[in-house]
Amino acid sequence: MIDLARVDGPTRLLPGDVEFRELTRVDDLRLAQEMERRIWACEDIDVSPVLLLVALVKSGALMLGAFIDGRMRGFAFSVPGDRHGHRLHWSHMTGIDDDLRSSGLGTQLKLEQARRVAARGYTRIQWTYDPLQSLNAHLNLVKLGAVADEYAEHVYGDSSSDLHRGAPTDRFIATWHLSADGTPIRSPRLGGIVPGAGAPAGRVSTEAGWDVYHPAPTLPDADVVRVPVPARFSAMLQDAPDLATAWRLQTRAQFHALFASGYEAVAFERQGDRGDYLLARG
Ligand SMILES: CC(C)(COP(=O)(O)OP(=O)(O)OC[C@H]1O[C@@H](n2cnc3c(N)ncnc32)[C@H](O)[C@@H]1OP(=O)(O)O)[C@@H](O)C(=O)NCCC(=O)NCCS
Repeated sequence: MIDLARVDGPTRLLPGDVEFRELTRVDDLRLAQEMERRIWACEDIDVSPVLLLVALVKSGALMLGAFIDGRMRGFAFSVPGDRHGHRLHWSHMTGIDDDLRSSGLGTQLKLEQARRVAARGYTRIQWTYDPLQSLNAHLNLVKLGAVADEYAEHVYGDSSSDLHRGAPTDRFIATWHLSADGTPIRSPRLGGIVPGAGAPAGRVSTEAGWDVYHPAPTLPDADVVRVPVPARFSAMLQDAPDLATAWRLQTRAQFHALFASGYEAVAFERQGDRGDYLLARG
């Protein structure tokens, strides 16, 4: 039995604490569906239909459950696909119970997903994430070693999820390159980056407790460019939606321009609950 109160702050799970299982039976898929409803807090119409999940896992999708003390506490779901000429798994959802956030479980789940996807013969996983969520930026780019060079506007429309409300649902498309055994391969562009490197694409001030972005009139002409991510973007979406929309539109324009010029987001320098993307050109 794991004592979830054994440390102050986030629980750090050890690899042996978690059992991973591929879920294929309808009862297990219902558990994942319940967890999806809990984590994303969306309306019933937006929850994945369980019969569709059955069809997808029968035809090659991977629903990976993470169990602790016999209870399902997280899952990662990916479907096979073909994008821009690359065979890949598209990871549609990764979620864990609230009380296990920052426990390391998200990282373990993704690494296990990578091993199992690679065992099926794929060396690429892609997924979307909100570029203004600093936890996800740190997790995806720093801990997992994924990169992003594609920006998609308002991907999920006006979603009913509590995690999406308040601003256009723009997303980075993260790409995870894997070796044949599922080990992540980091971008070679990281080689040229030292801590503190990069020309800022704007500056951030604090007003009434919120981060406010002031983008530079033109993007710097530099090999490494920094674009900031505010603190508490989820709270901003709820409590200061106009400011959240301003961040969305300001950074949308900059990311579009940078990706179109050949930059790739390869690193994230975290400062507490905010940070800066480092985008490098090839
Ligand atoms: C995304 C998710 C699966 C990650 O799981 P997790 O167990 O929290 O992830 P980990 O603990 O492995 O990694 C999170 C990292 O972010 C860090 N972190 C926490 N808050 C942060 C913040 N505000 N800014 C930057 N990093 C932060 C943690 O400290 C940890 O890094 P560390 O191990 O270097 O200390 C989980 O947060 C979740 O279920 N979120 C809701 C659903 C969602 O958004 N899913 C992703 C899109 S499908």
